[in-house]
Amino acid sequence: MPQRVLTTESGAPVADNQNSATAGVGGPILLQDQHLLEKLARFNRERIPERVVHARGSGAYGYFEVTDDVTGFTSADFLSEVGKKTETFLRFSTVADSLGGADAVRDPRGFALKFYTEEGNYDLVGNNTPVFFIKDPIKFPDFIHSQKRDPFTGKQEADNVWDFWAHAPEATHQITWLMGDRGIPASYRHMNGYGSHTYQWTNAQGEAFFVKYHFKTNQGIRSLSAEQGAELAGQDANSHQTDLLQAIERGVNPSWTLYVQVMPAAEAADYRFNPFDLTKVWPHKDYPLQRVGRLVLDRNPDNVFAEVEQAAFSPNNFVPGIGPSPDKMLQGRLFAYADAHRYRLGVNHTQLAVNAPKATQANNYGRDGLMAANAQGRGAKNYEPNSYDGPVETGQPLAAPLAVSGYTGTHEAPAHTKDDDFFQAGELYRLMSEEEKKRLVANIAGGLSQVTREDVIEKNLAHFHAADADYGKRVEEAVRALRED
Ligand code: HEM
Repeated sequence: MPQRVLTTESGAPVADNQNSATAGVGGPILLQDQHLLEKLARFNRERIPERVVHARGSGAYGYFEVTDDVTGFTSADFLSEVGKKTETFLRFSTVADSLGGADAVRDPRGFALKFYTEEGNYDLVGNNTPVFFIKDPIKFPDFIHSQKRDPFTGKQEADNVWDFWAHAPEATHQITWLMGDRGIPASYRHMNGYGSHTYQWTNAQGEAFFVKYHFKTNQGIRSLSAEQGAELAGQDANSHQTDLLQAIERGVNPSWTLYVQVMPAAEAADYRFNPFDLTKVWPHKDYPLQRVGRLVLDRNPDNVFAEVEQAAFSPNNFVPGIGPSPDKMLQGRLFAYADAHRYRLGVNHTQLAVNAPKATQANNYGRDGLMAANAQGRGAKNYEPNSYDGPVETGQPLAAPLAVSGYTGTHEAPAHTKDDDFFQAGELYRLMSEEEKKRLVANIAGGLSQVTREDVIEKNLAHFHAADADYGKRVEEAVRALRED
């Protein structure tokens, strides 16, 4: 193949890529050097706003294969047949740090999965934790502000982190999870993924079920201790990215087995705690795991910016047979993501290759906007209804309708008999071995002891006491010992 010629952005050959054009030898630069102008101007525009959370991440393509029949619960086409395969893209991430942070830190990990189904893209935007810190989206901006850099000191502050948690007793379960042994995964391959929220499945008969997704790693769970994490994060900020990239390049394709917990919709109202409360898990003895299929990652993206930085996942991208539950956090997220994408990537982000449907195509009357790349067919009408065979609605809702009642207003979630914020944190603590408990207590005390205000420490200690008497006592002693040092 003949050597290709370097060109300007409009394709004209470039004569010199080492010396800019000047007025005579040693003179000032000429505006007519189009190649120089383009290079400098494009360079200035290489960055886009990073994600406001989950800024740092890694992605890979793969496929999902159905291994078990779930057609009794959902009519989703991509789950309709054992053996059916659907292309996927998964982006892993850390949450709190900015793009320049490190991978091996104590933080939840994002597990954002796009299924390119024949009925449109289905995005399941989860984490590696089955629960979350809060249960109402109105608290999310405050929560994230308290965990990211302080606007005055420019760094994460233990005072802010723990002050928010002092006012959020519902976070005790997730804090126990995060400060425990799984808080720093050894790599993205060695952790589970969860949908975390409750979602709705609807079967072909129109029956509704509530489901929770669990992706169990087939590589085994591997985590790092606080010391190992600190050392690795200091030595190699990109440890998880490198691990994922190299495993797939070597053909060691990571995989996860998907299970769901399924609750018939009629059981939700009388369940002993609110089944739409994101700070709680459903015990497996109530709703056992049922296997659905296998997720395999087998292809690295060709370009990290184009395919990972510009990947856009929205919890509101559903397909027929799958829909949201009334979980308030999920409801808030149904708005937040596509709004973030319009800001960060622009209104036509769905036309980028990683975000566009692959097994079907988008047909609608949305038009134009910044960077519109998809030319609509000649004569295609841009309004609906029309008399020109344009795309039409199906009249079929994606998921079964759910009954609602009452008055509008800022309500607390409906009360169930056992809704308290602490019992599952206590149960998690009591499940741990003695060694795990020691590490958990040390991790919590390491952070909490840095807080400057006694009243904030007291409020947090009260949460651990409420979860379990032994848990509270040990955290309190460890915090006191560190503060006396
Ligand atoms: C009301 C609560 C929440 C709000 C308002 C919210 C908002 C956001 C926003 C604005 C982004 C950046 C999106 C982008 O720029 O592409 C994001 C990213 C993300 N969030 Fe949330 N979030 C919430 C809760 C959660 C929860 C509970 C989970 C997991 C169960 C989660 C998982 C993720 C993941 C995985 C990403 C990264 C997606 C990617 O890889 O592009 N978020 N969130």
